[in-house]
Amino acid sequence: MKAPVCNAWRLYDGLPWSIKDKTLPKAKITALGCYTPPRILTNQDLEKLVDTNDEWIVARTGIRERHIADPGMATSDMAIEAAKCALAQRGIEASEVEVIIVCTVTPDMFFPATACLVQHGIGAKGAWGFDMIAACSGFVYGTTTGAHLVAAGTHKKVLVIGSDTMSRIIDYTDRSTCVLFGDGAGAVLIEPTADGEDAGYIDFLGEIDGSGGDALKMPAGGSRMPASHETVEKRMHFVHQEGQQVFKYAVRKMYEVCRDLLERNGLTGADVGVMIPHQANLRIINAAADRLGIPSGKVLINIDRYGNTTAGTIPLATRDAISQGRLKKGDLVLFAAVGAGYTVGASLWRWAY
Ligand code: UT7
Repeated sequence: MKAPVCNAWRLYDGLPWSIKDKTLPKAKITALGCYTPPRILTNQDLEKLVDTNDEWIVARTGIRERHIADPGMATSDMAIEAAKCALAQRGIEASEVEVIIVCTVTPDMFFPATACLVQHGIGAKGAWGFDMIAACSGFVYGTTTGAHLVAAGTHKKVLVIGSDTMSRIIDYTDRSTCVLFGDGAGAVLIEPTADGEDAGYIDFLGEIDGSGGDALKMPAGGSRMPASHETVEKRMHFVHQEGQQVFKYAVRKMYEVCRDLLERNGLTGADVGVMIPHQANLRIINAAADRLGIPSGKVLINIDRYGNTTAGTIPLATRDAISQGRLKKGDLVLFAAVGAGYTVGASLWRWAY
């Protein structure tokens, strides 16, 4: 008798796990809401702040503008707007949400968790939840975690939010980082699939590599280097990045994680309906998509309008894929990200609505 097969298992009767062998998905995304603050910071605006120019930024990154939160707005505020939008789309009350996972590297405070602030803000009475720090891979990790909570049969409504107010930790005197980042949030609701429904979460592959931790970090403000006059004077509460080192790692790992995930599911780039990658640099996305054999028409790119919103990029790009008619029910979706940590992750979903 064959052993029962769970979505997450890689082996099936001792043979490599394949999408063709597995049981039907158990968890699906049923709604998506996003929020970006209205204020826009263009490349031309940045030319007035630092020694940069539109031509360099567009050629090296693909970014033309990014959204920036007003001083009164924090990560939980954007997350709440995105969450309300997702719940309204699904037509359910916040009190029905059982778990809230907020993926962010820019929490309102270290504690309480931003998930708690969101729970209170939307009125999700009875929910539990937590924050997830996985930087640019946050949304891929968070949605995978949410899918497993649902697939386990213990939860029916999980809200996963990627929200980052990067402008709060960016040094607007450092041209090598300030041109890259923006603010934004996206929320998805994950629910069980119906009996016999072939849509939803398929598989995930992830990797963390702390040997790259120094290449992209906010050095001060934690237990290693608490805030002091010195840390403020040395601008250590801002993002510090070894750009080229991160770039090389991201180009390699974005490709490898997608290749391996597709391979172990018996798929190739040609099977992908839409690739929705983290938006850190257009050149990283294009390099990965080229090597995977995914044509540019199937790769969602919106970095030109939002920059890198860290945990917000993938939901914002998914929203654009839907609104542009490029993501439809039944499509095979490949989410992929590489970020600070390093964190690496890719997931496969059959789009459900
Ligand atoms: O999402 C989290 C993960 N992060 C990433 O994936 C980001 C990965 N890294 C990158 O995307 C790229 O490395 C950057 C966009 C950050 C930088 O692009 P690059 O092609 O690697 O440029 P570079 O750092 O090698 O710098 C090339 C030149 C340097 O000048 P010199 O030394 O050649 O004279 C820089 O000083 O470009 C200069 N430069 C700039 N010039 C105009 C750096 N930043 C700027 C700027 N405007 N904003």
